[in-house]
Amino acid sequence: MSFNSRDSVQPVWDRPVLGIETSCDETAAAVVAGNRILSNVIFSQTEHSLYGGVVPELASRNHVRKIVPVVREALSGAGIGLDELGGIAVTSGPGLVGCLLVGISTAKGLALGSGRPLIGVHHIEGHLFAGLLGDASLRPPFLALVISGGHTQLIHVRRWGLYEVCGETRDDAAGEAFDKVAKMLGVLKKGETTMGGPVISRLAEAGDDRAFAFPRGLRHQDGFEFSFSGIKTSVLYHIKGRSEADVVEEQADIAASFQAAVVDVLVEKTIQAAGALELSRILLTGGVAANRRLREEMHRAARESGVEVCFPPPVLCTDNAAMIACAGGFRLGRGERSGRDLDADPRMKLT
Ligand code: KG4
Ligand code: ZN
Repeated sequence: MSFNSRDSVQPVWDRPVLGIETSCDETAAAVVAGNRILSNVIFSQTEHSLYGGVVPELASRNHVRKIVPVVREALSGAGIGLDELGGIAVTSGPGLVGCLLVGISTAKGLALGSGRPLIGVHHIEGHLFAGLLGDASLRPPFLALVISGGHTQLIHVRRWGLYEVCGETRDDAAGEAFDKVAKMLGVLKKGETTMGGPVISRLAEAGDDRAFAFPRGLRHQDGFEFSFSGIKTSVLYHIKGRSEADVVEEQADIAASFQAAVVDVLVEKTIQAAGALELSRILLTGGVAANRRLREEMHRAARESGVEVCFPPPVLCTDNAAMIACAGGFRLGRGERSGRDLDADPRMKLT
């Protein structure tokens, strides 16, 4: 099978691959065969919300507790034994080092015990392959906007496996801004979630998106860089200048105005980048791509500019192991293998 042609052959490997993802606070395992998801198990650690953000040591301990039951559930859900797998794929970076090591050690142990090949996967490459799981017809070249809690990157996907980062954030990631604004508004329920995005998005439904003019960072700047620290600070000062009762009353308007500002910048820059790079297809992926307003606005802007846009279903936008299995299947299918010396790389670059 050749993966070099531009769009003739899709990079799928028909053998079932077990994927393992533990780079942050989701303990996830899945079995994927080509584009077909046979099982997709995600355990989200909620107790970090008691501390206002992900606590790395706590996250790795939780992964240790959860990884075996989660992998077992993924295999039994797929109805597949270890010896029937084509290989085992695991996120090897970027991420929290202690968390990555739990997934990697588990994957190595399983690979060693079963004699199945092992492959380390870049987390962001996983998010790109979530696009293929969502739409089997997705073919490079295309522009990807990867928007998550840790990343905001515009990536020119020349071919599967050949990526060029053409823009990223200078400071906060888009998801991080959602998380921080939710925290400032005090709308994250302790013990439930650290993900501010879905909470802001729900709150915004009842708000006026023109109530407050929050800044659109780097909107008029050439190039494809983003900045979200200005808007975060602007929301903070807005809140500081109000009484607690006013903030509660204005919550929905603040959420809607903040969300509108972030969405405007993401949509404008992405459409501009697609035009400059002469790309007619766009993939939005990563946790923030689950945002309803962003999906609607992006569809509208794409229609007006004559480009195609696609989003994975929300459950594949946020962290999951199906995307890791799919990306791993692509690499295993090309004959790539990781050795027993596979190590965690917390700052792994996408090459
Ligand atoms: O991809 P992801 O699960 O994890 C990382 O790789 O970081 O993304 C998580 C991020 C969080 O910041 C979360 O608040 C954001 O994605 N997110 C959303 C939505 N759902 C998740 N942001 C805006 N709207 C949403 N519906
Ligand atoms: Zn992610």
